[in-house]
Amino acid sequence: MKKKTDVLIIGSGIAGLSFALKIAEKRADLHIDILTKSNNEAGSTFRAQGGIAVVSDKVNDSFQKHYQDTLKAGKGLCNPKIVEMVVSQAPDRLQELIKWGGKFDTSADGSLNLGLEGGHSQKRIVHRQDFTGRELEQTLLTKIAEYPNIRIESHHFVTDLLLKDNLHGPVCIGAEVLELKTGEKIKIRSKVTMLATGGSGKIFRNTTNPSVATADGVAMAYRAGARVINMNYIQFHPTAFYQNGPNRLFLISEAVRGFGAYLVNRQGKRFLFEYDSRGELATRDIISAAILSELKESGEDCVFLDCRHLDHKKFSQEFPTIVSYCNLQGINLQTGLIPVTPAAHYQCGGIKTDKFARTSIPNLFASGECACTGLHGSNRLASNSLLEALVFSHQASEYLTPRIDRITSIPEAQNNTDHKIKLPEDSLLLRSFKHQLVNLMSYEMVYQSGIAEKEKAWQQLQDIRSQLHRISKSTDCSSNFYEVRNMVFAAILVIEHSLIEKSRKKLKPQLLQGIKL
Ligand code: FAD
Ligand code: SIN
Repeated sequence: MKKKTDVLIIGSGIAGLSFALKIAEKRADLHIDILTKSNNEAGSTFRAQGGIAVVSDKVNDSFQKHYQDTLKAGKGLCNPKIVEMVVSQAPDRLQELIKWGGKFDTSADGSLNLGLEGGHSQKRIVHRQDFTGRELEQTLLTKIAEYPNIRIESHHFVTDLLLKDNLHGPVCIGAEVLELKTGEKIKIRSKVTMLATGGSGKIFRNTTNPSVATADGVAMAYRAGARVINMNYIQFHPTAFYQNGPNRLFLISEAVRGFGAYLVNRQGKRFLFEYDSRGELATRDIISAAILSELKESGEDCVFLDCRHLDHKKFSQEFPTIVSYCNLQGINLQTGLIPVTPAAHYQCGGIKTDKFARTSIPNLFASGECACTGLHGSNRLASNSLLEALVFSHQASEYLTPRIDRITSIPEAQNNTDHKIKLPEDSLLLRSFKHQLVNLMSYEMVYQSGIAEKEKAWQQLQDIRSQLHRISKSTDCSSNFYEVRNMVFAAILVIEHSLIEKSRKKLKPQLLQGIKL
């Protein structure tokens, strides 16, 4: 593949694809390369269900209400200026999606059919039934195919960023890539690099995230010296379909509760009003904590969503994917209940960015779930994530298109293309590291454990990290190795950031110094 480009984008979810389109619309002369480590559609975007939060009902809703709901969910830790920018740009970003070919559900009068989700004071979720993510991903990929200056390379695993020192510190000049089909390791030079690598759910035993969510972008940005913040604000979605054992759990959208489903315990009792007057429509942090507290008390493994009282014809129209998944599991929603449990869903922290998606390293940008923009505070409002990715990819494109020509082109790297790496098989050792990792990382570890317990986990993770480091010195590494290394790295950051939040004073000094691989 080409070893030099203008714009290098890592990740093919909503953040990466919309950024590519926005740049290409304005600059047909720029070469834009998107690298993605699996199939193009492997990220969280494709799996999004509920939709995108956008104020479109001018009578009952307002930017002010969306702004307030976002601040309230974020528990005082959002950046109000960023929240204002995002909610007020939402209608424009939605119109862009529609212009690119995106289709969303409408009512008989042609107006958008808006869904309701937890923490929203109004119906404002624009969606395509319960497969909004699939609609978005396919719309973006189809549109991108019209641009000859955008190229997507699947099965290209980015292992690290390339840096060059200048007077003021390191500047990003591209990335190192492992071509998974050939085993070729190459360096790609770029004027700007956009990290759009998604989240980190796979560091937890139970997650709604797909297998690619291994925190690669966060880990490589941190190794490069970029600021990474708030990694302890992991959002647990209250209603993932319960299954025994470590799993990627199928999501039962929050919109199902917005449609009127009840959350009940095994005795059939709706218990959420004991925790919050909004009941089923409280924010995720509150509902997940309430469920876990109920489960602890009862000793049960799951609670249940009760849809029996709902209009099933309408329900099937709104949620065809969920109905068919439940049917496959042998559950008839007119008579049976859906077993659900909280699962790691979203990383609110990440690579710190400003309002143009710039990281602390020049020429390195980040957008989407890997970035921490200040929108979510410590708890994201439902359906604000797809919106955030669209807004910050737009912002980065606005910033870059008039400025990119000022960035000096770096000569192509010397790639030794004769050297093909013999990719080792997934080793037992890597499997054991992963097993240890997911056994350590849980809701309890992040939100309830004390300092001593966190420090012990931190030490265990550091031991794994050292062993991985030793392995990397003596052997060619597979993508599996790099993923495990990134996951361990992210888990260490989650624990460090929660320790720092819990008590700055009581920390051992070495914990505050940060670590590097
Ligand atoms: P992703 O879509 O996850 O894409 C990341 C990309 O990076 C992938 O292509 C991946 O393969 C690639 N990648 C990662 N590492 C590397 C590497 N080292 N080298 C090369 N490529 C790499 N949010 C909402 O707002 N509304 C919803 O309705 C909603 N529903 C959701 C439902 C589910 C089941 C899940 C899991 C999440 C949901 N979310 C929702 C959250 C939202 O979908 C994600 O936060 C958002 O899609 C992230 O987009 P992204 O572009 O940042 O990352
Ligand atoms: C859902 O549909 O419940 C997911 C929405 C989100 O993550 O914002």
